[in-house]
Amino acid sequence: MRIKTITTMALAATFCIACNQNSKQNSEPSLKNAVSDAFLIGAALNTNQVAGRDSQAVAVIENHFNSIVAEDCMKSETIHPKEDVYNFESADAFVAFGEERGMNIIGHCLIWHSQLSPWFCVDENGNNVSPDVLKQRMKDHIHTIVGRYKGRIHGWDVVNEGILDDGSYRNSKFYEILGEEYIPLAFQYAHEADPDAELYYNDYSMFLPGRREGVIKLVSELKEKGLRIDAVGMQGHYVMGGPTVEQVEESVVKFNEVGTKVMFTEFDMALLPRNAQGAEISAREDGRDAVNPYANSLPEEVSEQWNNWMKSFFDMFMRQKDGITRVTMWGVTDGDSWLNNWPILGRTDYPLLFDRNYEPKPFVVEIIERNNN
Ligand code: GLA
Repeated sequence: MRIKTITTMALAATFCIACNQNSKQNSEPSLKNAVSDAFLIGAALNTNQVAGRDSQAVAVIENHFNSIVAEDCMKSETIHPKEDVYNFESADAFVAFGEERGMNIIGHCLIWHSQLSPWFCVDENGNNVSPDVLKQRMKDHIHTIVGRYKGRIHGWDVVNEGILDDGSYRNSKFYEILGEEYIPLAFQYAHEADPDAELYYNDYSMFLPGRREGVIKLVSELKEKGLRIDAVGMQGHYVMGGPTVEQVEESVVKFNEVGTKVMFTEFDMALLPRNAQGAEISAREDGRDAVNPYANSLPEEVSEQWNNWMKSFFDMFMRQKDGITRVTMWGVTDGDSWLNNWPILGRTDYPLLFDRNYEPKPFVVEIIERNNN
Protein backbone atom coordinates (compact mmCIF):
# COMPACT_ATOMS: atom_id res chain seq x y z
CA MET A 1 0.00 0.00 0.00
CA ARG A 2 1.30 3.42 -0.88
CA ILE A 3 2.52 5.42 2.05
CA LYS A 4 0.90 8.80 1.88
CA THR A 5 3.08 11.81 1.35
CA ILE A 6 2.94 13.74 4.53
CA THR A 7 3.65 17.36 5.06
CA THR A 8 6.35 18.89 7.18
CA MET A 9 3.69 19.69 9.77
CA ALA A 10 2.66 16.09 9.90
CA LEU A 11 6.29 15.10 10.27
CA ALA A 12 6.59 17.53 13.13
CA ALA A 13 3.58 15.96 14.79
CA THR A 14 5.13 12.53 14.36
CA PHE A 15 8.28 13.87 15.87
CA CYS A 16 6.51 15.24 18.93
CA ILE A 17 5.17 11.79 19.63
CA ALA A 18 8.70 10.44 19.13
CA CYS A 19 10.03 13.09 21.54
CA ASN A 20 7.72 11.98 24.24
CA GLN A 21 8.54 8.39 23.67
CA ASN A 22 12.30 8.45 23.68
CA SER A 23 13.25 12.04 24.42
CA LYS A 24 15.25 12.97 21.32
CA GLN A 25 14.86 16.48 22.68
CA ASN A 26 16.93 18.52 20.28
CA SER A 27 16.44 16.69 17.03
CA GLU A 28 14.07 17.65 14.28
CA PRO A 29 12.20 15.03 12.29
CA SER A 30 14.52 15.40 9.37
CA LEU A 31 16.38 13.35 6.84
CA LYS A 32 19.76 14.58 8.06
CA ASN A 33 19.00 13.42 11.59
CA ALA A 34 17.62 10.15 10.32
CA VAL A 35 20.90 9.26 8.57
CA SER A 36 23.29 11.12 10.86
CA ASP A 37 24.90 7.94 12.17
CA ALA A 38 25.64 6.78 8.64
CA PHE A 39 26.75 9.58 6.30
CA LEU A 40 26.37 13.22 5.37
CA ILE A 41 23.34 13.95 3.23
CA GLY A 42 23.71 16.70 0.68
CA ALA A 43 22.15 18.59 -2.19
CA ALA A 44 23.44 20.52 -5.17
CA LEU A 45 22.25 24.13 -4.91
CA ASN A 46 21.34 26.50 -7.70
CA THR A 47 21.68 30.28 -7.53
CA ASN A 48 17.96 30.87 -6.83
CA GLN A 49 18.22 28.82 -3.69
CA VAL A 50 21.47 30.42 -2.57
CA ALA A 51 20.04 33.91 -3.11
CA GLY A 52 16.95 32.97 -1.08
CA ARG A 53 14.58 33.55 -4.02
CA ASP A 54 13.32 29.98 -3.67
CA SER A 55 12.51 30.28 0.02
CA GLN A 56 10.58 27.01 0.20
CA ALA A 57 13.63 25.17 -1.10
CA VAL A 58 15.79 26.98 1.47
CA ALA A 59 13.53 25.65 4.23
CA VAL A 60 13.87 22.10 2.86
CA ILE A 61 17.66 22.47 2.61
CA GLU A 62 17.96 23.78 6.16
CA ASN A 63 15.75 21.08 7.60
CA HIS A 64 16.89 18.03 5.71
CA PHE A 65 20.44 18.42 4.40
CA ASN A 66 23.78 19.00 6.13
CA SER A 67 26.03 19.19 3.07
CA ILE A 68 25.91 21.34 -0.05
CA VAL A 69 27.67 21.46 -3.38
CA ALA A 70 27.54 24.14 -6.06
CA GLU A 71 25.51 22.90 -9.02
CA ASP A 72 27.08 25.25 -11.55
CA CYS A 73 28.72 28.37 -10.15
CA MET A 74 32.18 26.89 -9.61
CA LYS A 75 32.57 25.34 -13.04
CA SER A 76 35.40 26.95 -14.98
CA GLU A 77 33.24 28.60 -17.66
CA THR A 78 31.35 30.44 -14.89
CA ILE A 79 33.96 31.17 -12.27
CA HIS A 80 36.89 31.84 -14.64
CA PRO A 81 35.41 33.00 -17.95
CA LYS A 82 38.61 34.65 -19.23
CA GLU A 83 42.19 34.06 -18.32
CA ASP A 84 42.42 37.28 -16.33
CA VAL A 85 38.77 37.41 -15.17
CA TYR A 86 37.34 35.54 -12.22
CA ASN A 87 33.68 35.78 -11.33
CA PHE A 88 33.37 34.92 -7.67
CA GLU A 89 30.02 36.48 -6.85
CA SER A 90 27.86 33.36 -6.98
CA ALA A 91 30.52 31.11 -5.48
CA ASP A 92 31.06 33.53 -2.58
CA ALA A 93 27.32 33.59 -1.93
CA PHE A 94 27.18 29.78 -2.05
CA VAL A 95 30.00 29.42 0.49
CA ALA A 96 28.45 32.07 2.74
CA PHE A 97 25.09 30.24 2.55
CA GLY A 98 26.73 27.07 3.83
CA GLU A 99 28.77 28.81 6.51
CA GLU A 100 25.78 30.66 7.90
CA ARG A 101 24.08 27.32 8.40
CA GLY A 102 27.13 25.38 9.60
CA MET A 103 26.99 23.02 6.64
CA ASN A 104 29.61 20.78 5.04
CA ILE A 105 30.60 22.69 1.89
CA ILE A 106 31.84 20.94 -1.25
CA GLY A 107 33.53 22.63 -4.19
CA HIS A 108 32.70 21.32 -7.68
CA CYS A 109 34.75 21.06 -9.85
CA LEU A 110 38.30 22.15 -10.62
CA ILE A 111 39.33 20.31 -13.79
CA TRP A 112 36.65 19.05 -16.19
CA HIS A 113 36.52 18.86 -19.98
CA SER A 114 32.90 20.04 -20.05
CA GLN A 115 31.52 23.46 -19.13
CA LEU A 116 35.15 24.38 -19.59
CA SER A 117 36.13 27.97 -20.25
CA PRO A 118 36.83 28.20 -23.98
CA TRP A 119 40.21 29.92 -23.47
CA PHE A 120 41.59 27.36 -21.01
CA CYS A 121 43.49 24.94 -23.24
CA VAL A 122 44.05 26.97 -26.41
CA ASP A 123 45.86 30.10 -27.60
CA GLU A 124 44.27 33.09 -29.36
CA ASN A 125 44.29 31.18 -32.67
CA GLY A 126 42.49 28.22 -31.18
CA ASN A 127 45.56 25.96 -31.20
CA ASN A 128 46.41 23.83 -28.21
CA VAL A 129 48.75 25.58 -25.79
CA SER A 130 52.04 23.92 -24.84
CA PRO A 131 52.22 21.54 -21.86
CA ASP A 132 54.04 24.19 -19.81
CA VAL A 133 51.41 26.83 -20.50
CA LEU A 134 48.58 24.47 -19.61
CA LYS A 135 50.31 23.46 -16.37
CA GLN A 136 50.68 27.10 -15.42
CA ARG A 137 47.01 27.82 -16.26
CA MET A 138 45.83 24.83 -14.23
CA LYS A 139 48.02 25.89 -11.33
CA ASP A 140 46.76 29.49 -11.39
CA HIS A 141 43.14 28.36 -11.71
CA ILE A 142 43.33 25.85 -8.87
CA HIS A 143 45.49 27.96 -6.56
CA THR A 144 43.26 30.99 -7.00
CA ILE A 145 39.96 29.21 -6.43
CA VAL A 146 40.98 26.73 -3.75
CA GLY A 147 43.10 29.41 -2.08
CA ARG A 148 40.18 31.84 -1.93
CA TYR A 149 38.08 29.37 0.06
CA LYS A 150 40.93 27.85 2.08
CA GLY A 151 39.68 26.50 5.37
CA ARG A 152 36.06 27.12 4.36
CA ILE A 153 35.43 24.43 1.76
CA HIS A 154 35.61 20.98 3.26
CA GLY A 155 36.39 19.03 0.09
CA TRP A 156 36.89 19.47 -3.67
CA ASP A 157 35.98 17.46 -6.72
CA VAL A 158 39.44 17.94 -8.18
CA VAL A 159 39.06 16.09 -11.47
CA ASN A 160 35.69 15.24 -12.99
CA GLU A 161 35.09 12.49 -15.58
CA GLY A 162 38.62 11.65 -16.70
CA ILE A 163 38.13 7.91 -17.26
CA LEU A 164 35.94 6.10 -19.81
CA ASP A 165 33.79 2.95 -19.64
CA ASP A 166 36.67 0.69 -20.69
CA GLY A 167 38.99 2.17 -18.05
CA SER A 168 41.06 4.19 -20.51
CA TYR A 169 41.63 7.93 -20.25
CA ARG A 170 39.13 10.31 -21.81
CA ASN A 171 40.76 12.13 -24.68
CA SER A 172 40.03 15.59 -23.30
CA LYS A 173 42.11 18.66 -24.11
CA PHE A 174 43.87 18.19 -20.77
CA TYR A 175 44.81 14.64 -21.74
CA GLU A 176 45.71 15.58 -25.30
CA ILE A 177 48.18 18.19 -24.09
CA LEU A 178 49.52 16.73 -20.85
CA GLY A 179 48.71 13.02 -20.99
CA GLU A 180 47.95 11.16 -17.76
CA GLU A 181 50.04 13.64 -15.80
CA TYR A 182 47.25 16.23 -15.73
CA ILE A 183 45.40 14.33 -13.02
CA PRO A 184 48.21 14.06 -10.44
CA LEU A 185 49.13 17.67 -11.18
CA ALA A 186 45.58 18.82 -10.42
CA PHE A 187 45.63 16.96 -7.09
CA GLN A 188 49.06 18.38 -6.28
CA TYR A 189 47.97 21.98 -6.98
CA ALA A 190 44.77 21.58 -4.96
CA HIS A 191 46.67 20.21 -1.98
CA GLU A 192 49.21 23.04 -2.17
CA ALA A 193 46.40 25.58 -2.08
CA ASP A 194 44.61 24.07 0.92
CA PRO A 195 46.44 21.23 2.67
CA ASP A 196 43.48 20.56 4.96
CA ALA A 197 40.85 20.20 2.24
CA GLU A 198 39.65 16.76 1.27
CA LEU A 199 40.23 15.90 -2.39
CA TYR A 200 38.08 13.65 -4.56
CA TYR A 201 38.08 12.08 -8.01
CA ASN A 202 34.51 12.23 -9.41
CA ASP A 203 32.92 10.28 -12.28
CA TYR A 204 29.75 8.64 -13.59
CA SER A 205 29.04 4.99 -14.50
CA MET A 206 31.49 3.63 -11.97
CA PHE A 207 29.22 0.63 -11.52
CA LEU A 208 30.70 -0.58 -14.83
CA PRO A 209 33.64 -2.90 -14.12
CA GLY A 210 35.84 -1.26 -16.79
CA ARG A 211 35.45 2.27 -15.50
CA ARG A 212 35.70 1.11 -11.89
CA GLU A 213 38.98 -0.73 -12.54
CA GLY A 214 40.37 2.30 -14.40
CA VAL A 215 39.54 4.52 -11.43
CA ILE A 216 40.96 2.03 -8.91
CA LYS A 217 44.22 2.07 -10.88
CA LEU A 218 44.20 5.86 -11.02
CA VAL A 219 43.63 6.18 -7.27
CA SER A 220 46.44 3.75 -6.48
CA GLU A 221 48.80 5.69 -8.76
CA LEU A 222 47.92 8.93 -6.99
CA LYS A 223 48.56 7.30 -3.63
CA GLU A 224 51.87 5.84 -4.83
CA LYS A 225 52.95 9.35 -5.76
CA GLY A 226 52.16 10.40 -2.18
CA LEU A 227 49.26 12.60 -3.26
CA ARG A 228 46.19 13.19 -1.14
CA ILE A 229 42.93 11.62 -2.28
CA ASP A 230 40.20 11.11 0.28
CA ALA A 231 37.43 9.44 -1.71
CA VAL A 232 36.02 8.69 -5.08
CA GLY A 233 32.76 10.34 -6.01
CA MET A 234 30.36 7.99 -7.75
CA GLN A 235 28.07 10.56 -9.34
CA GLY A 236 25.06 8.25 -9.37
CA HIS A 237 22.97 9.59 -12.24
CA TYR A 238 20.86 6.46 -12.68
CA VAL A 239 17.61 5.45 -14.32
CA MET A 240 14.95 3.35 -12.60
CA GLY A 241 15.48 -0.22 -13.79
CA GLY A 242 19.23 -0.08 -14.17
CA PRO A 243 21.90 -0.23 -13.01
CA THR A 244 20.72 -2.52 -10.24
CA VAL A 245 21.49 -1.89 -6.63
CA GLU A 246 23.70 -5.01 -6.68
CA GLN A 247 25.84 -3.62 -9.51
CA VAL A 248 26.31 -0.33 -7.70
CA GLU A 249 26.96 -2.01 -4.35
CA GLU A 250 29.65 -4.18 -5.94
CA SER A 251 31.59 -1.05 -6.89
CA VAL A 252 31.24 0.41 -3.40
CA VAL A 253 32.61 -2.83 -1.94
CA LYS A 254 35.46 -3.02 -4.47
CA PHE A 255 36.53 0.57 -3.82
CA ASN A 256 36.36 -0.02 -0.07
CA GLU A 257 38.41 -3.20 -0.41
CA VAL A 258 41.30 -1.21 -1.86
CA GLY A 259 41.02 1.29 0.98
CA THR A 260 39.06 3.99 -0.84
CA LYS A 261 36.00 5.63 0.63
CA VAL A 262 33.03 6.31 -1.62
CA MET A 263 30.71 9.27 -1.84
CA PHE A 264 27.58 9.42 -3.96
CA THR A 265 28.06 12.92 -5.22
CA GLU A 266 25.30 13.64 -7.76
CA PHE A 267 22.60 11.12 -7.01
CA ASP A 268 19.33 11.16 -8.92
CA MET A 269 17.05 8.42 -10.24
CA ALA A 270 15.38 9.26 -13.53
CA LEU A 271 11.97 7.83 -14.26
CA LEU A 272 12.02 8.81 -17.89
CA PRO A 273 13.60 6.57 -20.47
CA ARG A 274 16.80 7.60 -22.21
CA ASN A 275 19.32 5.88 -24.42
CA ALA A 276 22.37 7.26 -22.63
CA GLN A 277 23.33 5.02 -19.75
CA GLY A 278 25.83 7.34 -18.12
CA ALA A 279 25.74 11.10 -17.71
CA GLU A 280 27.61 12.32 -20.75
CA ILE A 281 26.16 15.79 -20.93
CA SER A 282 26.96 16.23 -24.61
CA ALA A 283 24.57 13.33 -25.39
CA ARG A 284 21.35 14.73 -26.86
CA GLU A 285 18.31 12.77 -27.99
CA ASP A 286 15.19 13.67 -29.98
CA GLY A 287 11.56 12.75 -29.48
CA ARG A 288 10.31 14.72 -26.53
CA ASP A 289 6.60 13.94 -26.93
CA ALA A 290 7.04 10.22 -27.37
CA VAL A 291 9.14 9.95 -24.24
CA ASN A 292 7.51 12.41 -21.90
CA PRO A 293 4.74 10.23 -20.52
CA TYR A 294 4.23 11.92 -17.14
CA ALA A 295 4.06 15.54 -18.25
CA ASN A 296 0.96 16.27 -16.17
CA SER A 297 1.11 13.81 -13.32
CA LEU A 298 2.68 10.63 -12.11
CA PRO A 299 0.49 7.52 -11.89
CA GLU A 300 0.30 6.03 -8.42
CA GLU A 301 1.80 2.69 -9.42
CA VAL A 302 4.78 4.31 -11.15
CA SER A 303 5.43 6.45 -8.11
CA GLU A 304 5.27 3.37 -5.91
CA GLN A 305 7.73 1.54 -8.17
CA TRP A 306 10.12 4.48 -8.07
CA ASN A 307 9.90 4.77 -4.28
CA ASN A 308 10.63 1.07 -3.83
CA TRP A 309 13.56 1.30 -6.20
CA MET A 310 15.00 4.32 -4.38
CA LYS A 311 14.45 2.73 -1.01
CA SER A 312 16.53 -0.25 -2.07
CA PHE A 313 19.40 2.14 -2.90
CA PHE A 314 19.13 3.94 0.43
CA ASP A 315 18.99 0.58 2.21
CA MET A 316 22.24 -0.29 0.44
CA PHE A 317 23.79 3.04 1.49
CA MET A 318 22.93 2.19 5.09
CA ARG A 319 24.31 -1.33 4.70
CA GLN A 320 27.59 0.05 3.34
CA LYS A 321 27.71 3.07 5.62
CA ASP A 322 31.21 2.28 6.90
CA GLY A 323 32.56 2.86 3.41
CA ILE A 324 30.20 5.63 2.27
CA THR A 325 30.86 9.04 3.76
CA ARG A 326 28.34 11.22 1.91
CA VAL A 327 25.26 10.96 -0.27
CA THR A 328 24.52 14.15 -2.22
CA MET A 329 21.43 14.58 -4.38
CA TRP A 330 21.80 16.51 -7.64
CA GLY A 331 19.14 19.06 -6.74
CA VAL A 332 16.50 19.60 -4.06
CA THR A 333 13.09 19.20 -5.75
CA ASP A 334 12.05 17.46 -8.97
CA GLY A 335 11.37 20.84 -10.54
CA ASP A 336 15.04 21.82 -10.21
CA SER A 337 16.50 18.75 -11.83
CA TRP A 338 18.74 18.93 -14.91
CA LEU A 339 16.98 15.72 -16.01
CA ASN A 340 13.98 17.79 -17.11
CA ASN A 341 16.27 18.96 -19.90
CA TRP A 342 18.71 16.13 -20.51
CA PRO A 343 19.16 14.30 -22.78
CA ILE A 344 15.88 15.66 -24.19
CA LEU A 345 14.80 19.26 -23.60
CA GLY A 346 11.59 20.13 -21.78
CA ARG A 347 10.45 16.86 -20.20
CA THR A 348 8.98 16.26 -16.75
CA ASP A 349 11.04 13.90 -14.63
CA TYR A 350 10.74 12.86 -10.99
CA PRO A 351 14.27 11.95 -9.88
CA LEU A 352 14.82 13.62 -6.48
CA LEU A 353 13.83 13.29 -2.81
CA PHE A 354 11.32 16.17 -2.78
CA ASP A 355 8.49 16.73 -5.24
CA ARG A 356 7.51 19.92 -7.04
CA ASN A 357 5.49 20.98 -3.98
CA TYR A 358 8.55 20.66 -1.74
CA GLU A 359 7.08 17.56 -0.08
CA PRO A 360 9.27 14.56 0.76
CA LYS A 361 8.64 11.47 -1.32
CA PRO A 362 7.00 8.55 0.53
CA PHE A 363 10.20 6.55 0.93
CA VAL A 364 11.91 9.62 2.41
CA VAL A 365 9.08 10.00 4.90
CA GLU A 366 9.53 6.36 5.77
CA ILE A 367 13.27 6.80 6.44
CA ILE A 368 12.60 9.88 8.54
CA GLU A 369 9.86 8.24 10.56
CA ARG A 370 11.79 5.04 11.05
CA ASN A 371 14.93 6.75 12.25
CA ASN A 372 13.39 9.51 14.33
CA ASN A 373 11.40 7.01 16.34
C1 GLA B 1 27.93 16.06 -14.46
C2 GLA B 1 28.63 17.12 -13.68
C3 GLA B 1 27.68 17.96 -12.91
C4 GLA B 1 26.45 18.30 -13.70
C5 GLA B 1 25.83 17.08 -14.21
C6 GLA B 1 24.57 17.42 -14.94
O1 GLA B 1 27.61 14.97 -13.74
O2 GLA B 1 29.61 16.63 -12.80
O3 GLA B 1 28.32 19.14 -12.56
O4 GLA B 1 26.79 19.14 -14.77
O5 GLA B 1 26.76 16.47 -15.07
O6 GLA B 1 23.99 18.59 -14.52
